[in-house]
Amino acid sequence: MRSYPMANTDHSPSAFVIKDELRGLTLDEIFEKVAGMYAGGKLSLNDIMKATESIVELNKIFSKQEEHHFFVRQATLEDVDALMKMVDFWAKAGQNLPRKRNDIVRNIQTFAVCVRDHEVVGCACLYVYDSGLAEIRSLGVSPVIQRQGQGKAIVEFLLKRAARMFIKKVFVLTRSPEFFSRVGFVKTVKEALPEKILKDCENCPKRECCDEIAFIREIPSLTI
Ligand SMILES: CC(C)(COP(=O)(O)OP(=O)(O)OC[C@H]1O[C@@H](n2cnc3c(N)ncnc32)[C@H](O)[C@@H]1OP(=O)(O)O)[C@@H](O)C(=O)NCCC(=O)NCCS
Repeated sequence: MRSYPMANTDHSPSAFVIKDELRGLTLDEIFEKVAGMYAGGKLSLNDIMKATESIVELNKIFSKQEEHHFFVRQATLEDVDALMKMVDFWAKAGQNLPRKRNDIVRNIQTFAVCVRDHEVVGCACLYVYDSGLAEIRSLGVSPVIQRQGQGKAIVEFLLKRAARMFIKKVFVLTRSPEFFSRVGFVKTVKEALPEKILKDCENCPKRECCDEIAFIREIPSLTI
């Protein structure tokens, strides 16, 4: 159990920036930084609490990094129940298209799953069109562990898979534009994706009032 510095003053300078400063650091770097600021009188516990909303939040920052034991792998038939659950959840929430069990089974080789504590906590698949363009579909992360890096890890896994297949471009139609911008996709227009329009959009009830945004990412060639 990690011990936290104890408060001794409440009048050190405000430290509202600390949350941003902690972002991206390793656990030990965070601890060193906070302890150093506290020891140097730059930061009181009160400041730490204010800056991180509460000590609980600080604790979450620590434990989030300590518990980041997740990995992404190829899906297998043993994952089908978990895949169904995840796809169904986000389809009912209106974020993804629903998929039938037999569709998932037939396309199991296209799926990747993110596993944490022996449980599937996220998934997506890479669908390759006749033209060689590919689409990330059925991306979803467990609603209780959002924003902890799982979504990005799944996308990166599929982008590497695309690169190994010499796929030049991967696109997505999404209602989560901020996420796809963060993982290196750029906005495009749906008309630039005739494959998708022919495959799914033509029969979609939302065709005339579609609220999904198209994003695309070019895949650099692999130097093997
Ligand atoms: C979209 C989704 C897959 C993202 O997964 P996640 O594990 O929460 O995202 P990550 O933690 O990997 O986020 C990666 C980056 O994107 C940012 N991000 C994620 N969701 C975001 C959002 N809604 N708004 C702004 N930024 C967001 C994160 O802050 C992180 O930024 P950083 O690199 O600066 O730290 C997840 O929110 C989800 O399952 N949504 C519902 C289903 C869905 O929309 N699927 C996409 C259909 S195409």
